[in-house]
Amino acid sequence: MALMALAIVVIALVFFVFRRITGKRATMADSSGGEVKGSRRRRRLPPGSMGWPYIGETFQLYSSNPNDFFAEKQRRYGAVFKTHMLGCPCVMVSSPAAAKFVLVTKAHLFKPTFPASKERMLGPQAIFFQQGEYHARLRRLVLRAFMPDAIRAKIAGVEEIAVRTLSSCDGRFINTFQEMKTYAFNVALMSIFGTEERSRIEELRQCYYTLEKGYNSMPVNLPGTLFHKAMRARRQLGLVVAKIISSRRESGTTDLHHHHPDRAHSDDLLASFMEAKESLSDNQIADNIIGVIFAARDTTASVLTWILKHLAENPAILQAVAEEQDEIRRHKDQIEGAQEKSDLNWADTKKMPITCRVIQETMRVASILSFTFREAVEDVEYEGFLIPKGWKVLPLFRNIHHSSHHFPDPEKFDPSRFEVAPKPNTYMPFGSGTHACPGNELAKLEILVLLHHITTKYRWSICGSTAGIQFGPFVLPRDGLPARIERLR
Ligand code: HEM
Repeated sequence: MALMALAIVVIALVFFVFRRITGKRATMADSSGGEVKGSRRRRRLPPGSMGWPYIGETFQLYSSNPNDFFAEKQRRYGAVFKTHMLGCPCVMVSSPAAAKFVLVTKAHLFKPTFPASKERMLGPQAIFFQQGEYHARLRRLVLRAFMPDAIRAKIAGVEEIAVRTLSSCDGRFINTFQEMKTYAFNVALMSIFGTEERSRIEELRQCYYTLEKGYNSMPVNLPGTLFHKAMRARRQLGLVVAKIISSRRESGTTDLHHHHPDRAHSDDLLASFMEAKESLSDNQIADNIIGVIFAARDTTASVLTWILKHLAENPAILQAVAEEQDEIRRHKDQIEGAQEKSDLNWADTKKMPITCRVIQETMRVASILSFTFREAVEDVEYEGFLIPKGWKVLPLFRNIHHSSHHFPDPEKFDPSRFEVAPKPNTYMPFGSGTHACPGNELAKLEILVLLHHITTKYRWSICGSTAGIQFGPFVLPRDGLPARIERLR
């Protein structure tokens, strides 16, 4: 704890010194009165406290569960409040209307923002960091590869990966999160590159593991540091993607007008990028491919981990899910003759309402992306409050998902609450507006397919205590949910 506190102080100081040097100090409001004077007319800042100079309330945030920290603030100050973290003044928004204002209606006034070191590591031209025309262009290309029509062709591939993942876990004690990460990684790689180029994809996988190890390290680019190794791995990743691109170009399979329907990759993400009318550079493609892997893997894996925990703890719900999935299996076996191999199809995945509600409720309770970051590109007024240019703005998804006003008895895991659709803007597990998750259909599909196989053919039990959570960086059951999985004979 003491070490962590020290690290936070050091990070905050480094931030401060850096800002001084680069002269990029964001507009600072006085921390007491909450009014900005000068050329702007007098407008009130949102209520809230800014904490100590420079360090702000970073301490309080990290010394308690961040969700409790935000919930307490919301109780004191209301749905829109200010604070100060890691050297940045911030406005937190925790009502559906304010989240819609920031993410949807006035999205052009709030640009995405990430620490510069993360941007460098993922790739500065990746979709998350963009706004305007280039962002819209990238988004069309990503959506083309992940819209329902494109991913329905991928079910067989996803199912094969799910079956393989589960049989590799059979009879073992596993770290659920680690296994689900491997699953989500393999699905992401298949949807990006198709099924060819296996050896290059192995190389890419190894580089990605190195990148991952350094992702949350201190951004000190000196030989020997994890950060340095991660940056080297990042360059290597760019080279591997470039090699895959050039071998595709050579084999001439990416011309829009000469699709080979039998080619596994005719509708994968790389093809979508390579076929772009206004072509993208190899660097732009690499940044976006690495970005999509990053967005796709740990998110889906942590949702799956939470689902397996909730099902293990709620036998009646598990039974309802298993019955729904058994019914699909029985029906298929009748039609297709009692063979072992009867693949799921798109229509089957539409007959899983109970399972879908379990996924929805898990994403509400876990809210793995508790919030997201934006930055005001100019002074913005919201409900009489000023959000000054340069301030960070954080829509707090988790607070909205855990409001008893929108979700009665919010801490209770109760999938049946989704029998009635939630009110608009109260449920945003995939975000909302211009940057909402383009991978959500694929995420839901891969979760359904894995749940189909695990509930019809396996039994799993959690090892040790099921209490406790960790942040890694998404909220997760403690130790990644150690469990034992066994195939039903
Ligand atoms: C259950 C799993 C997932 C969850 C909960 C999730 C959640 C989210 C959220 C909340 C955002 C918006 C962030 C913001 O507004 O700042 C987002 C963006 C994004 N997600 Fe996902 N995601 C998941 C899976 C995936 C998958 C499987 C893919 C890719 C196949 C993916 C690709 C992306 C991309 C590329 C963006 C950035 C979009 C943009 O900036 O326009 N995600 N995701």
